[in-house]
Amino acid sequence: MRTIIRNGYIGLTPDTLIQADLGIVQGSVYSIGRDVNRQDYDVEVDASGCWVLPGGIDPHVHLDWDFGDTVTTDDMGSGTKAAVFGGTTTVMNFIQPQPGESLSALVERWKEKSGASWAHYGFHIIIPEMNDQWLKELALLPSLGVHTIKVFTAYPGKLMLSDADIYKVLRTAGHSGVMTMVHAENGPVIDVIAEDAIMAGHYQAGYHGITRPAELEGEAVFRVGQLARLAKAAAYIVHMSSHEAVQALAFARQLGANLAAETCPQYLFLDDQVYESDSFSVARFVYTPPSRSLKDQEVLWTALKRGDIGIVSSDHCPFDMEGAKQLGIHDFRQIPNGGPGIETRVPLLLNAVQRKEIDLGSTVGWMSTHAAKTFGLFPYKGALLPGSDADIIIVDPQRVPPPIHVEQLHQRVDYTPYEGWAVRGFPRDVMVGGQWAIRDYQSTGLPPNGQFIGFQHAAVRA
Ligand code: URP
Ligand code: ZN
Ligand code: ZN
Ligand code: ZN
Repeated sequence: MRTIIRNGYIGLTPDTLIQADLGIVQGSVYSIGRDVNRQDYDVEVDASGCWVLPGGIDPHVHLDWDFGDTVTTDDMGSGTKAAVFGGTTTVMNFIQPQPGESLSALVERWKEKSGASWAHYGFHIIIPEMNDQWLKELALLPSLGVHTIKVFTAYPGKLMLSDADIYKVLRTAGHSGVMTMVHAENGPVIDVIAEDAIMAGHYQAGYHGITRPAELEGEAVFRVGQLARLAKAAAYIVHMSSHEAVQALAFARQLGANLAAETCPQYLFLDDQVYESDSFSVARFVYTPPSRSLKDQEVLWTALKRGDIGIVSSDHCPFDMEGAKQLGIHDFRQIPNGGPGIETRVPLLLNAVQRKEIDLGSTVGWMSTHAAKTFGLFPYKGALLPGSDADIIIVDPQRVPPPIHVEQLHQRVDYTPYEGWAVRGFPRDVMVGGQWAIRDYQSTGLPPNGQFIGFQHAAVRA
């Protein structure tokens, strides 16, 4: 099948946007230009007045993740379908070994679970506790097509590793071409503050926001930066949410730490006013870190624009309000942490472009290109250059859709933090690996075409 996308405004890369035709042959971009010969193509798609962009890459999702007491509601099928409807054509999912499971068995288990994936997919492996077997196996991960692991400085007794163990992981990973992703918050101190709140009778969901102060995020970002530096390893700080985190990142880099960083829409578009209520409906905003102040929001946008933070991921981690979130109705500490966002991430960013708050080229970088570079997929993904994979979204900036309603989204969860928001930026058409998954806002009904990405780990910016 040869397809020509006519007369769109194409984001070839964040720096190069041109009005042109885009020819696709055998799943790859074949030609870009104005004189592309119509007869050479079987299918023609008119993109006049539309943006033609590399499909979004979401490097932080929790699909079918067992978070101790409960499992996230989206699996690889439903979550990647929602991703594609929201303009994301590649996701990277966090997978976690069971006690005693080898990391190679883990990767095989997840490849089997991912057979009907709408989006391309890769894996990051969570290291939930330290043992010699996993430490040894770390070095072999690149041969399994996995180049990233994740550790936590939060959730003591559940997922947190000690600083000593994080150092050991970083050291081994650094020697092995594996990048360590880190959830950076000071978990033990947060537990003390949260316990104080409960003792004072403050059990409501809104206390989640108050009991995870930004100081404890900044502290952990800097600590991880120093450990990574000593271990001569690259690290990637997930879900940066605060001014304190941005400053700590800058200082650690200044000292020589090799750090990459992401933030998420819930820190760019929502703020801590969402916690100012005693109602349990606030549990919709119980994700970690919490949304911060408007000042933090402004600092995060500046960090994106300066290139200090390169990536906007979703941290999609859905739990139903009428389901697992109820675990914390009498104690906010028991509310499963996480919120949905895989389908709304790209549209929220493109909506900000429509509102002239940010420019389209930079946005292509944050939603796609920089993740492709950081995780070694560029220029096959994250760009529409000759030879790039044909993972493409077409967005009609003229279209004013109805406001977002959870019923219209494809995420398998009973709420969205963005209910009622007017968002212009959902894709009209989405191509995954050269095959149309969505045309004119509807599924084409073709079988899911997502492929496993055995990605290469690229150099991380210093
Ligand atoms: O609240 C969140 N983000 N839940 C998912 C786990 C994590 O910390 O990334
Ligand atoms: Zn996290
Ligand atoms: Zn997460
Ligand atoms: Zn609704």
